[in-house]
Amino acid sequence: MVAPVVVAIDGPSGSGKSSVSRAVAGHFGFGYLDTGAMYRALTLWCVRSGIDLADQDAVAGAAEDLPLGLGADPQDASVELDGEDVSAAIRTSEVSAVVSTVATNLQVRAILQQQQRDLIEVLADDFGGVVAEGRDITTVVAPDADVRILLTASEEARLARRSTQLHGTSDAATVAAVHDEVVRRDRDDSTVSQFTVAADGVVLVDTSDLDFDGSVAAVVSAVVAAVGD
Ligand code: DC
Repeated sequence: MVAPVVVAIDGPSGSGKSSVSRAVAGHFGFGYLDTGAMYRALTLWCVRSGIDLADQDAVAGAAEDLPLGLGADPQDASVELDGEDVSAAIRTSEVSAVVSTVATNLQVRAILQQQQRDLIEVLADDFGGVVAEGRDITTVVAPDADVRILLTASEEARLARRSTQLHGTSDAATVAAVHDEVVRRDRDDSTVSQFTVAADGVVLVDTSDLDFDGSVAAVVSAVVAAVGD
């Protein structure tokens, strides 16, 4: 493996993207970048500051000056806003319900995408490699990445995982309750990023029938196949 290595991973909600990406970064000793956390942190900042999410210029202005701190260690990928740990606050259902409004603001996307390219370069140098995950990393942010992976899973598997992750169970009623959030958000987000079909040269890893360790092993194999070990 010739360092630094850039691994780009995209996928929809519930594909296991974040936990698998962190484990893969840990496996290789690489830095980790959760780009979804950037959209979430910006959303929380705007909500707390009383910025109307529909005011595209105001939200883009906030994106330029966001006092964001992102932990790049995959074992401690904490997120800070103005020095406050907001790792849990950015994942509440209140933020999840409105984050697509921010993520479909094209001015915001251009600003965050450039910040993400800069971060990928710094982390790849600092750690000898980086795993960056999101919706448009393989296609827009880092189309030249050494390894590009689309992590997918059937809708049924994704809903069950999301339900277990949020509520500790995947019984029918709980799955039905998360259905709207997951399906609607992916539908809204897919209007600006293509993350349901693998682009040219992107390796498709379907985790529907894989458990967590199996998913990590499949992604580690794809990395090794592309860049050696
Ligand atoms: O992966 P996540 O659920 O934490 O992402 C939060 C939101 O940000 C979600 O609505 C998708 C969006 N997103 C995006 O549009 N582009 C990215 N690179 C990452 C996330």
